[in-house]
Amino acid sequence: MSDRAQLKIGDKTIDLPVLVGSEGELGIDISKLRAETGAVTLDPAFVNTASTRSAITFLDGEKGILRYRGIPIEQLAENATFVEVAYLLIYGHLPKQTELSAFSELLTRHSMLHEDMKRFFDGYPGTSHPMAILSAMVASLSSFYPAALSVKNKQEIDITIGRLISKLRTIACYSYKKSMGQPFVYPKNSLSYCANFLNMMFSIPAETYEMDEDLVKVLNQLLILHADHEQNCSTSTVRMVGSSQANLFASVAAGILALWGPLHGGANEEVLEMLQGISDDGGDVKKYVELAKKKDSGFRLMGFGHRVYKNYDPRAKIIKRAADKVTKKMKEPDPLLEIAYRLEEAALTDSYFVDRKLYPNVDFYSGIIYRAMGIPTNMFTVMFAIGRLPGWIAHWKEMVDDPTTKIMRPRQIYTGPTEQPFVPLAKRG
Ligand code: ACO
Repeated sequence: MSDRAQLKIGDKTIDLPVLVGSEGELGIDISKLRAETGAVTLDPAFVNTASTRSAITFLDGEKGILRYRGIPIEQLAENATFVEVAYLLIYGHLPKQTELSAFSELLTRHSMLHEDMKRFFDGYPGTSHPMAILSAMVASLSSFYPAALSVKNKQEIDITIGRLISKLRTIACYSYKKSMGQPFVYPKNSLSYCANFLNMMFSIPAETYEMDEDLVKVLNQLLILHADHEQNCSTSTVRMVGSSQANLFASVAAGILALWGPLHGGANEEVLEMLQGISDDGGDVKKYVELAKKKDSGFRLMGFGHRVYKNYDPRAKIIKRAADKVTKKMKEPDPLLEIAYRLEEAALTDSYFVDRKLYPNVDFYSGIIYRAMGIPTNMFTVMFAIGRLPGWIAHWKEMVDDPTTKIMRPRQIYTGPTEQPFVPLAKRG
């Protein structure tokens, strides 16, 4: 393979360097293209565009491979804790015992919210979507920690990272308690990251909360599976915002908002709404599979298909096993879960889905598990955000630490009117 590509434009031919990633992916470096030819490239939705070099996560959508810092997702989901994985993504290696203890201690010490911040929750109506609260609260955190506003303050960045990972979980639980009209439950230093989350979500002062260790394990696994996915929409948003040297809180608040969309993290919520709709309509899954195949219906099977995976999503395989485990624990069978499994089977045997390689994605099963755990539907994307946070931070840090980083500023192909004169109001026809 040559290390140069040639591009002919008009009568000019230019040489472009060909880059090879550590897993053999090829990229054509066009950074000098405009300077040398005056032309730009057009790549709607960045389907063919690498926006950066990155050493964090490798995924091969054709082969169904996902690795964080080179370690297969299957091994991490089986053996690691979410806190270890967060460290791995952000700092580039699995923590030694001393590093893990220091990082865990940082998370423990920073889990509480400033008491003034608790009052912010009072201003929201009980019907607020928790994603709106989550993004606003994360942006608000920057007002309590002004030292974090400078991205040049490296020591502060490490504390900010700890604060964010720890407090996002507390904010998420408070937004849930607010929606339920229940008192906020403070974090408990004696509990692990995931157990602390469950305690803040589900315990109430009137009774003792019995921690289910199986649920703690499944939650740990779910968060690990969501922790990074290279240059997805929300991570690219974090990088885009961060490239202006916006602080970590601001960049992550923007990432949360990008995640909210139904074609991204919002899909897990949409999956449950779709299942409820199918159930309300009599539970005929075949009817909805047919509907999804009709382009003019505007209906898609939520939780199926993926921009990158054109094979079974490796995360979906792991999560499906976890879903089976959690749903078996339920006292009564859930009719929506039964519809989900029938829908999965119908779609996986239908040639439309098979030919287009539309497999269930991670959101299809995560929604099922969260429901079985008692987490309400509108909190599903919040759960995704808690999981994805280490990835956002790792990418933001990788970018900030890179001395060659520039503010991101894409070009466009202008298709509007050419120059025309201003027409005074009285003369406009
Ligand atoms: N239901 C029915 N048909 C679908 C679906 C679906 N869920 N997804 C894709 N298709 C069809 C498209 O209509 C298209 O058909 P065509 O080739 O005949 O025109 C073909 O499959 C390719 O689809 P695209 O939209 O071009 O694929 P793209 O990569 O742009 O979209 C996406 C990926 C957005 C995830 C899409 O599959 C989708 O909308 N899925 C449902 C939403 C969802 O589950 N999102 C979560 C993604 S995972 C995540 O963010 C963590």
